[in-house]
Amino acid sequence: MAQIIDGKAISQIVKDEVKSEVLKLSQKGITVGLAVIIVGDDPASRVYVNNKKKACEALGLISREYALSKDTTNDELLELIKKLNCDDEIDGILVQLPLPSHLDEKLIINSISPNKDVDAFHPQNVGKIMIGDYTFAPCTPAGVMELLSKSSIDVSGKECVIVGRSNIVGKPMSMLMLHKNATVTVCHSKTADLKEVVRRADIVVAAVGKPNFITADMIKEGAVVIDVGINRLENGKLCGDVNFEEVSKKASFITPVPGGVGPMTIAMLMKNTLASAKAKHNL
Ligand code: GUN
Repeated sequence: MAQIIDGKAISQIVKDEVKSEVLKLSQKGITVGLAVIIVGDDPASRVYVNNKKKACEALGLISREYALSKDTTNDELLELIKKLNCDDEIDGILVQLPLPSHLDEKLIINSISPNKDVDAFHPQNVGKIMIGDYTFAPCTPAGVMELLSKSSIDVSGKECVIVGRSNIVGKPMSMLMLHKNATVTVCHSKTADLKEVVRRADIVVAAVGKPNFITADMIKEGAVVIDVGINRLENGKLCGDVNFEEVSKKASFITPVPGGVGPMTIAMLMKNTLASAKAKHNL
C-alpha cells in the first residue's frame, strides 16, 4: 500500500514559512500585497478567489480583490492592470481564468508586469522557466515539486512521465523536473502506446482532466504517482485523474484528491507573492 502524500499538511508547512517571512518583512516596514481580479460570476472561480483572499489574510499579506462585471471590456481591464502594475502596495497581480469569451486572454496576461506575474503565465516568465532562470514558477507544477522535495523524493536521474501538455501544468512541469535532472517524457492524447510509456515511469504526474484515467496496469510497482486532476463527478464528488483505489496498491507514494496537489497551489501563490516583494527590495 502506498504512502499517502498529505498535501494539506505540506501546504501548511509552506504557508507557515511564508507567514514567518512576511512577519519579518513587516518588522522592516515592508508589506506584501496581492491583487486578484475576477470578471463575471463563475461559481468555481468565486470559490478559488475566496480561498486566495482567506490565505492572504491568514498569512499577513495585503489582499485586494477586484470583482468586475461580466461585461467588462478589454480596455477597462487593461486600464486596471496598468494601474496595479505601478501600485507600490501590490507585489502580485492575478487575473482569475477563464475570462468571459469576449475578453482577449492573451492580451490581458501580456499586459501584467512580468515582475508581478505571480501565476508565471506571461511569455517573459515562461521563457525564463525554459532557461532555468526564474523568480516565479506556475503555482501547480511548483506545488508538485514542493510536495516531492518535502516528501524526500529526489527526481534526479529518475524517469518522470507527465501525462498532459497544458501551458499551465504539463509543459512547465517538464521544465521544473528537467532542471532537477530528471529524464522527462511528456505524453498527450496522440501518444502511441501511452500505457507502455507510463509504465516506464519512476514518477508519474497525471494532468489530463479525465477522471480515473490512470489505472493500475499503467503503473510500475513502486512508482510515485502525483495526481493533478480535479474532476467533479455527476454525484458531486471530487475525483482525480488517477484511479486511487487500484493505483494506491501498487505505488510507493501517491497524492489523494482532494488533499493532494490542490492545497499546494494557493500555498505556492503566497510564496510567489512573497518572492516578488523580496525581489523588489533586493532581498
Ligand atoms: N484558474 C484556474 N487555475 C488558475 C490559476 O492557477 N491561475 C489563474 N489566474 N486562474 C486560474
